Amino acid sequence: MKKITFLFVLSFLLHNLSFAQNTKRDQFVSALMKKMTIDEKIGQLNLLTGEATTGSAVSSDVELKLKAGKVGGIFSLSTPEKIRKAQELALQSRLKIPAIFGMDVIHGYRTMFPIPLGMSATWDMDLIEKSAKMAAQEATADGISWTFSPMVDISRDPRWGRASEGSGEDVFLGSKIAAAMVKGYQGKDLAEKNTMMACVKHFALYGAAEGGRDYNTTDMSRVRMYNEYLPPYKAALDAGAGSIMASFNEIDGIPATANKWLLTDLLRKEWGFKGFVVTDYTGNNEMIDHGMGDIQTVTAKALHAGSDMDMVGEGFLNTLKKSLVEKKVTQAEIDRAVRLVLNAKYELGLFEDPFRYCDENRAKTEIYNSQTRAFSREVASKSFVLLKNKNNILPLKTSQKIAVVGPLINNKENMAGTWSVSEVRTNSITLMEGLRNTLGEKTEILQARGANIYTDPTMDANAAVFGKTTDRDNRSDEEMLFEAVRIAKNADVIVAALGESAEMSGESSSRSQIDIPENQRNLLKALVKTGKPVVLVLFTGRPLVLTWENENVDAILNVWFAGSEAGNAIADALYGKTIPSGKLSMSFPRNEGQIPVYYNHKNTGRPHSGKPGYEKFRSNYLDVANEPLFPFGYGLSYTTFEYGDIKLDKTSMTEGQQIKVSVDVKNTGNYDGEEVVQLYIRDKVGSNTRPVKELKDFKKVLIKKGETKTIDFSISINDLKYYTNELQYIAEKGEFEVMIGGDSDKVKKAGFDLK
Ligand code: NOJ
Repeated sequence: MKKITFLFVLSFLLHNLSFAQNTKRDQFVSALMKKMTIDEKIGQLNLLTGEATTGSAVSSDVELKLKAGKVGGIFSLSTPEKIRKAQELALQSRLKIPAIFGMDVIHGYRTMFPIPLGMSATWDMDLIEKSAKMAAQEATADGISWTFSPMVDISRDPRWGRASEGSGEDVFLGSKIAAAMVKGYQGKDLAEKNTMMACVKHFALYGAAEGGRDYNTTDMSRVRMYNEYLPPYKAALDAGAGSIMASFNEIDGIPATANKWLLTDLLRKEWGFKGFVVTDYTGNNEMIDHGMGDIQTVTAKALHAGSDMDMVGEGFLNTLKKSLVEKKVTQAEIDRAVRLVLNAKYELGLFEDPFRYCDENRAKTEIYNSQTRAFSREVASKSFVLLKNKNNILPLKTSQKIAVVGPLINNKENMAGTWSVSEVRTNSITLMEGLRNTLGEKTEILQARGANIYTDPTMDANAAVFGKTTDRDNRSDEEMLFEAVRIAKNADVIVAALGESAEMSGESSSRSQIDIPENQRNLLKALVKTGKPVVLVLFTGRPLVLTWENENVDAILNVWFAGSEAGNAIADALYGKTIPSGKLSMSFPRNEGQIPVYYNHKNTGRPHSGKPGYEKFRSNYLDVANEPLFPFGYGLSYTTFEYGDIKLDKTSMTEGQQIKVSVDVKNTGNYDGEEVVQLYIRDKVGSNTRPVKELKDFKKVLIKKGETKTIDFSISINDLKYYTNELQYIAEKGEFEVMIGGDSDKVKKAGFDLK
């Protein structure tokens, strides 16, 4: 009782404290807004780019506009010197309102971490939060106080290049990661010098683009949205994210940027979001091509719907005043947007000190140092997913002579992966450098290029944008292949480092065929033919189709694009200095025709029995199994784990109760290793059809060799709830199945009832 009273008083005090702060902020902002002209107000809603990054539009006359109070913020500008200069210009405007400086800090700032899809494979929330914190430390030391991250779009379509920027297919894992990242970026106080404001993106459903083609239409039922796509955005906002970015796609036939249901009814009214909405890059202008009207019409619609800040296109700047005069928007709508943008600047401490993030000394010491690099190496090794390891060919022995083959083995530009705008490319450690660091100068390492990324130079060029060259070799495929085979024949083991280049995933990098390009596969075939053991080190930004590879190579280590320390971390894993523990957050299909393939699908009325082979009049294909090649949650280790039976403390529960669930996991192999123990639930009967399983909890544990650990979970009513057709969030009485395992496919099962 005492504890409850204490908690009540504490929450009352905290609430009032934040209320008092908000009152102070609100008073300040109100007073400022009273002084602002309509032009100055509209100026605050204008976000310009320092350099063109992800579109063809470039901002012009930025200096003049800053001085004239026509700019609320700038992104893609960095270093304390440059930002100080720009801020000084903003402070020359009549009301001296500071600008906000943003950047796409996606997976690290200067010290790069693995691409987000790789980060999500760590299933390690502390690590992910720490990586975001470190990114904030570096970015704020370089003048930035706002990041366009995390991207929390659920994606079940690996053709979509931006799957690389997200956390995969699962709503539960995705929500946990979304919250961890926001906490890491924002810390406890946005006004601290080393924290920055997060911007959740892309609101909403951007990852469900039809055909996996970027920017394409999405269309889905509300019930699917609420259960399977919206929770990660909500989790990021609940964790305190200060801003959110509208997505490029349409929802229910209206682009997100001008979708009032999305940006006002759901976001503000239902979820209570208090921060601001920024459009994506020229998102306003693009509504002309969506067929929503001319620039004045679409920007009025966007403001009315709830968009507050206009990225790059200057539609707000050029038309809102006219729309106000013509009564197409209201003063209150403009004021709403201005207030939210100014609130954010206040929270970041920019009114108190506009140069808060311009500390040259911090820039010298806090960016890319031995500490950040060591952490990046650790994160990288935890993101690797071991997909196959026949006869324990991995880890390699230093006594074995290796031949390293592949187009990117010496390539620094491609190690960090897509969306690494603030990296210094020469910093990245290549695979050859990493191997050299591990094996020492004296060990002979055979090497050959073997292939280009693609045979076709145009395809190669498309895969090498933003100056990330693939160092194309002008020799023919045959010449490179013969050389590689000749060299590899002298080795004990072949390490074939193949797959995608960094920019084959990311924005506007959708692929219709998601395999290793044919010329690289031919090289791999030739290497396998030598009869030497072949380890495939896979560079990729998305799940690939690896059916042939899985049947024919000895080991597959998926290393994604692992960041600044990629080469060192790969060498650590290949030689057993680290033990792979990553688990897939997205299923790897057997072929493209299976897409979308995801673990938490519905059963249908005619489910396949699960036995091998095609079944007539059942939901399956004539030519391929239903199951993916590698399921969600899958990943091997150099050691092995054995799961005991599931123990429940009771087999039925009522609403207020919890069921304690435990399982013994034994490390039965020869190494200490980490395992992600995953708990899934199936609601066997519902008023809506329910998925065959849904992830509800997981624990990542270190288990020493020979050791058995008991892993405990508890299931409460909240784990059983879902949104019904009426969008009621409820748990329905009846039978449930609980499943625990090391991936979503191989699980132990038990059952209980909700009474
Ligand atoms: C477009 C991308 O969709 C978005 O993710 C990014 O933050 C902006 N460009 C700014 O670069």
